[in-house]
Amino acid sequence: MKALCLLLVLTISSTLCVDKNNFKTCDQSGFCKRLRPFKPEKSQYSLNLDTVIVHGNVLSAEVVTVDIEGEKKNVLWHYALKLTALVDSTFRVELDEADPLYPRYRPELALGEEPTADGLKLVSNSNGKLILVNEQGNKVIITSEPLKIEFLDLNGEKAVILNDNSQLVVEPLRVRREKSGDDDEGDVEEEGTWSENFKSHHDSKPRGNEAISLDIAFPDADHVYGIPEHTDNFHLKTTTSGEPYRLYNLDVFEYDLDSRMAIYGAIPVLYSHGVKRSAGVFWHNSAETWVDVVNYADATVVSSLVNLVTGGHQRRVDARFMSEAGVIDVFVFLGDKPADVFRQYSGLTGAAPLPPRFSLAYHQSRWNYVDEADVRAVDDGFDANDIPADALWLDIEYTDRKKYFTWDMEKFPHPADMVANLTAKGRKLIVIIDPHIKREAGYFVHEDATEQGLYVKDKDGKDYEGWCWPGSSSYLDFFNPEVTKYYAERFQFNNFPGTSKDVHIWNDMNEPSVFNGPEITMPKDCRHYKAPQDGQDGLASFWEHRHVHNENGLRHISGTHQGMLDRSDGQYRPFILTRAVFAGTQRYAAVWTGDNAAEWGFLQASVPMCISLAVSGVSFCGSDVGGFFKYPEAEMMTRWYQAGAYQAFFRAHSHIETKRREPWLYDAATTARLRDAVRRRYALLDFWYTLFYEHSIDGLPVMRPLFQEFPREEETFTIDNTYLLGDKLLVRPVLEEGVTSVKVYLPGKDSHTVWYDVDSYQSYPANGYMNVDVNIAKVPVFQRGGTIVPRKERVRRSSALMAHDPYTLVVALDGQGKAEGSLYIDDGETYEYKSNKFIYAKITYEPSAMKYSFVNEEASYPTRSWVERIVIAGIKNPPKSAKLSQGGKQIPLQMTLHRGNDVLVIRKPTASMASPWEILFTY
Ligand code: NOJ
Repeated sequence: MKALCLLLVLTISSTLCVDKNNFKTCDQSGFCKRLRPFKPEKSQYSLNLDTVIVHGNVLSAEVVTVDIEGEKKNVLWHYALKLTALVDSTFRVELDEADPLYPRYRPELALGEEPTADGLKLVSNSNGKLILVNEQGNKVIITSEPLKIEFLDLNGEKAVILNDNSQLVVEPLRVRREKSGDDDEGDVEEEGTWSENFKSHHDSKPRGNEAISLDIAFPDADHVYGIPEHTDNFHLKTTTSGEPYRLYNLDVFEYDLDSRMAIYGAIPVLYSHGVKRSAGVFWHNSAETWVDVVNYADATVVSSLVNLVTGGHQRRVDARFMSEAGVIDVFVFLGDKPADVFRQYSGLTGAAPLPPRFSLAYHQSRWNYVDEADVRAVDDGFDANDIPADALWLDIEYTDRKKYFTWDMEKFPHPADMVANLTAKGRKLIVIIDPHIKREAGYFVHEDATEQGLYVKDKDGKDYEGWCWPGSSSYLDFFNPEVTKYYAERFQFNNFPGTSKDVHIWNDMNEPSVFNGPEITMPKDCRHYKAPQDGQDGLASFWEHRHVHNENGLRHISGTHQGMLDRSDGQYRPFILTRAVFAGTQRYAAVWTGDNAAEWGFLQASVPMCISLAVSGVSFCGSDVGGFFKYPEAEMMTRWYQAGAYQAFFRAHSHIETKRREPWLYDAATTARLRDAVRRRYALLDFWYTLFYEHSIDGLPVMRPLFQEFPREEETFTIDNTYLLGDKLLVRPVLEEGVTSVKVYLPGKDSHTVWYDVDSYQSYPANGYMNVDVNIAKVPVFQRGGTIVPRKERVRRSSALMAHDPYTLVVALDGQGKAEGSLYIDDGETYEYKSNKFIYAKITYEPSAMKYSFVNEEASYPTRSWVERIVIAGIKNPPKSAKLSQGGKQIPLQMTLHRGNDVLVIRKPTASMASPWEILFTY
């Protein structure tokens, strides 16, 4: 891809290519260059067994680094180790200096709540090894010298090993010595210790080197996954030749495909998977981080040394995290199935709360809809073309010259009326609010921030000035609670006139993007607020941007979330879209994959990018449908809409300089196909909403990799053009140009799974790969046998107008003639569901009866929806008669057989969804 990029640039001037010179390689990033070659034979770190204390769920002990000179051991540094047992087969390992010069930063917002403790017992302490066990029976073996920590699964096999490759490093914080003439005589500190340069940017590094590193081995693993956001495959590659994966939130203009370069998001969670088990680690750190991966199965890296370590056994993956700052704070997940590790991670960082229903529907965006007339024309365009839409978006140009919380009064003189016009059809407006603030005299936010000291400071303590959309800008310091309070208040309806509960927020540029900053972001020596503590002054009285960088966007969206909750006194669910991503982002916002392009490669990348985010907690993900840069011709636009209709966040968006491309601006046949794709989404909207409700409870990915459901089926481990929605629908969007057939992998051969084409109800056994014909209208989607999927077939202008429409229930039978599904219904926008105003129903089908029953019998919701059709696919022995039983009444039902007599349709069962019912069959 990269060679191609270069070649295309030389030949076709319009092809996108990132300017790599703007971004650091590992060698240009001081700590990465310093740490990456560090591969000692033996670790210097050892645990002092005399200091071990196990109290409650925590083991604590002193760790020291030693330098051995002949017989003599010199202790170099003292560290404090903490191992904590947490519920759900999770452990936490923390290592910090015993007495650091200044406290080191620990992210404050990534973890949802304080993790819950599990029991921990020391079962033995002999021969230099400690053996501990948690309540579930997972063992931990700590070897004292050199320090190594092994975590065992419930079968007593090693699942995760820390420091097996001796790459543990915690660089101690030191006082800077004044330069003296003696320096030249040998004791000179390594260049770059107290400052670094990149291009024309100088980083003053007032604390000197403070990096950390740890290697983590996953025995028996075939692959590792996670650490989004990258444009690489879903399964991660060996990095020995080339760059490590980088985690550093960056605004990368025209980002590359198939790349390990950092882009907007950085979630330091990594999972391993193999036929034996899944495991994982969460590296709880917000500083710039690089991750090396070595997959032992990769022929190019198998060396005799590897064979020595593994005894010739090739299944193992090693990862190594290197961060510029912070402490070692790593959570270990012992699985043992993929769903377990995904849950273990989301249990720590929180599952996304239930989003407002409209946000799962179709969104229409563009940089920019230029004025009120334009907004109205686009809004009307959807009605005129019979295409549903739930939200129109306004990009930066709606503001008064990029001053957020204001309107361009010439182009948008009546925002409240504009919003009312949308809401009359059940639609919403989404407006952008970026984190940079225009430095303009008279702009109230700038004046308040200047007066009240709300901005991030530069290295000398003055308000930091950078360059962004408005020109000269400063940046609110969201690490200061006063700033969050001030910022949140800006969302009050009276502070942001024209907005209402139906106006939601888009937070962009929050990496943060600084056009003239190093790597297009904020200098690392900028200063953020730190809560004052006695005795902490000088360097201890602030955080540097280097410590908190990846958490910056999360702070921004949490402030927006607070503001949106407060503006409606906590009544309505906010919808926020963010570009920067960190662990925990999912608790506040949906994510999109940033500035892609109308190229097939970007359409293809949207799937692994979103699955990777989904397993890392962020299920609510999508890409700019149609591509942000460049113009998608009809075929690409069609395929992108079809793919987008089956991704969680479904929004068309485009760059200001591209040709307009609302769905009706294409030829009539293409418009019809775009309409069809959007309608597919609306038909399944209640299915999506139910999946997101279930996600809010169980934290499992909504868009999920095949191996989550079929963990022993090796072919699935590297498939990343196909995924599942919940455990029910398999989606293999057409992502290739000009194809008439695609290969689809149908998993589940060991469980005799059956799959049904959702368009034809044709059943297919799970035989692995098969070819599926795909004309331009076809989207290969299969329903898993044994499941029930709710649909709404009467498509209207917006999801709100469909709230009480009737359902079609599609029952896809398994080999035993059974199926089950679920349905969640509520008002779609408030928190009343927290006071039992909802329906969460289980739907089961057996040859004798189909039942709709409430999982929570205390809860109810007065829906007027009813069942207008039940389609039962894969029926072998059709019943003779059926009757509905609801509320004490029994009604005989009409049934007809279709296709090769294997599809039974029950017409107008008229069962109300507001109370339980049953359909009884006789044969
Ligand atoms: C960058 C965002 O990624 C893009 O979606 C947006 O249109 C522009 N900023 C302008 O706000």
